[in-house]
Amino acid sequence: MFELTRRDGLARIGKLETPHGILETPALLPVVNPKLGTVPPRELFDDFGFKAIITNSYIIRSDEKLKERALNEGLHAMLDFPGVIMTDSGTFQSHMYGEVEVKNEDIVSFQRDIGSDIGTVLDIFTEPEWSEEKTAHAVDVTIARTEDAAKLKEKMLLAGVVQGSVYQNLRENCAKRLALVDVDVHPIGGVVPLMEQYRFADLVDVIISSKKGLDPSRPVHLFGAGHPMIFALAALLGCDMFDSASYAKFARTDRFMFPEGTAGLQDMKGLHCHCPACSSHTYEEIVKMKPAERSAIIARHNLWVSKCEIERVKRAILEGDLWELAERRCRAHPALLSALRRLEKHREFLEQYEPLSRDNSLLYTGIETLNRPAFLRYSKRFFARYEYPSSEALVVFEDSTGKPYNRYREGEINKVSAKYNAHYMVHSPFGPVPIELDEIYPIAQSLFPTSEDVETKEYSKTQMEKMSHQQPYPITMMWDEENTMDALEMMCQEAPAFDLDKARVKAVADYQFGKGAGEAFLNGEVKIVKSKSTGKIRNVLLNGEHILSMRANDGFFTLRPPGAKILLQTFPRPRLRVIVKDDAVPFNREGKNVFCAFVEECDKDLRLTDEVLVVDQKDNLVAIGRAMMIREEMLSFQTGVAVKVREGVKE
Ligand code: GUN
Ligand code: ZN
Repeated sequence: MFELTRRDGLARIGKLETPHGILETPALLPVVNPKLGTVPPRELFDDFGFKAIITNSYIIRSDEKLKERALNEGLHAMLDFPGVIMTDSGTFQSHMYGEVEVKNEDIVSFQRDIGSDIGTVLDIFTEPEWSEEKTAHAVDVTIARTEDAAKLKEKMLLAGVVQGSVYQNLRENCAKRLALVDVDVHPIGGVVPLMEQYRFADLVDVIISSKKGLDPSRPVHLFGAGHPMIFALAALLGCDMFDSASYAKFARTDRFMFPEGTAGLQDMKGLHCHCPACSSHTYEEIVKMKPAERSAIIARHNLWVSKCEIERVKRAILEGDLWELAERRCRAHPALLSALRRLEKHREFLEQYEPLSRDNSLLYTGIETLNRPAFLRYSKRFFARYEYPSSEALVVFEDSTGKPYNRYREGEINKVSAKYNAHYMVHSPFGPVPIELDEIYPIAQSLFPTSEDVETKEYSKTQMEKMSHQQPYPITMMWDEENTMDALEMMCQEAPAFDLDKARVKAVADYQFGKGAGEAFLNGEVKIVKSKSTGKIRNVLLNGEHILSMRANDGFFTLRPPGAKILLQTFPRPRLRVIVKDDAVPFNREGKNVFCAFVEECDKDLRLTDEVLVVDQKDNLVAIGRAMMIREEMLSFQTGVAVKVREGVKE
């Protein structure tokens, strides 16, 4: 069983239960060649801390001695590795050398019999140059073999490989069909040639089309991905496991791996590396060594660097800055930059996994940042949900001061609002930002360079133009100091009426929960409590009841039960709701979290970290909390927290 513990977008930290203990993901499984023994498995476990490795059952089975030992002693004793051992099936050998002499049933049974923790089907390696017809046939055979293998697996976990070459329809279709088979891990296969040829943009398409079809509750392994420069991007797209033979292969040709790319020993001027393998040697020593000795050190360097990068990715998932890390890593090589740019094509899919907010600010790292789902999210919600306050004039400021905008433009706003019925927007890199949305993520929690590039100018201009066709104001102008004041004096007739606090409650509520939420929250006697130290809204009371609190860090609301009840009346089922099974209701009313197994249904438009209404079958409010998963995940995981409950609601 696979359980998520933390996540950011599609990237996740999870735990996979195996016969030899829990494998924490993201994980890199070094490839152990049972015949070569570049780095002994025991050393991988004890010194490097790799808790899982992958080896090849086809190589073991083809060697009489190894075969006998594996069957008699078991794989773990034979390799002297106490952790998780995954085995591959011989498919890669067929890619390298043509047909292999083994049957699917035999190799799967063999993996089971030698005590592999995760065995692999004998899938068909779909080569990038194959025709669609040939690929489709290979996918059919792979699926049939996966079905056969599932009947043989017993306690062993089984890896069902997604094939389909570069045909996205075939990949998605293969993934969908595999999701129905009783397997435990989904490697994405047939991608080694793409990586060898630096076709990383095509790799992005392959990963995303596979992810679209797969069951989200199963871990995804990117077969043959062993270069640290790809880990951040692959993890960002939802790959949980990697395996690497590259550490040893690169070492044999004197190549050092780094997250920024590869360096050949002959091109290096020194080691400049402080990993445990390099730190006990000088560059000159390594150059003078015998090849075998040298490659043993370089292989260890490659392992340390890979291990370190996996840890870096993990840290980024925990801290919420994996996008920034992936963007930085993708600047290591133009082919990776192409991959980053390819994400534009997949913005809609990625947006489904984009949380409402993150703890960290969004850092602009270059024009590709404009493709991040945070931009699409803001644009979609602004244009679909925002209602313009009824003022006479719209004053637009340039984004040239600090954030939040209302604080930095306080002088101008007060001056105009004292005399005229005006509303305010900022022309920001995200496009138009109404002054009352200036504190929400990512508007306030984002940093851009002071010199704007052409692409950002173009993006925000397009968004501004779209807004200008939609906005209802008879008078609009860019702020230009006294010239604006003079113009307003000539044109405006209405008395001042703009109430920033109420406008903020309405706009944030509509943006966060949907159009109509704001009006419902303000329908009665409203009291807005503000922080004495920061001047920011803290609480909203309606008819004497505390309905909402505003979070200082991301500018969104947390719901109180009376506020949740208003939403329940305003939006029809299942909107904003997670509907739980009857057995769970008493626990959730006590304030316990909602676990996936107890989710009956869920709003498909809920996003990660969204405030949710936990309701029973009859739509009674049971609890309020934050969504830790999106709908498909809640419905497919068997374990894990679906909603982190903040407050239970008694009957
Ligand atoms: N190793 C690298 N690529 C593949 C693949 O597509 N299938 C299997 N079984 N192993 C691989
Ligand atoms: Zn090193």
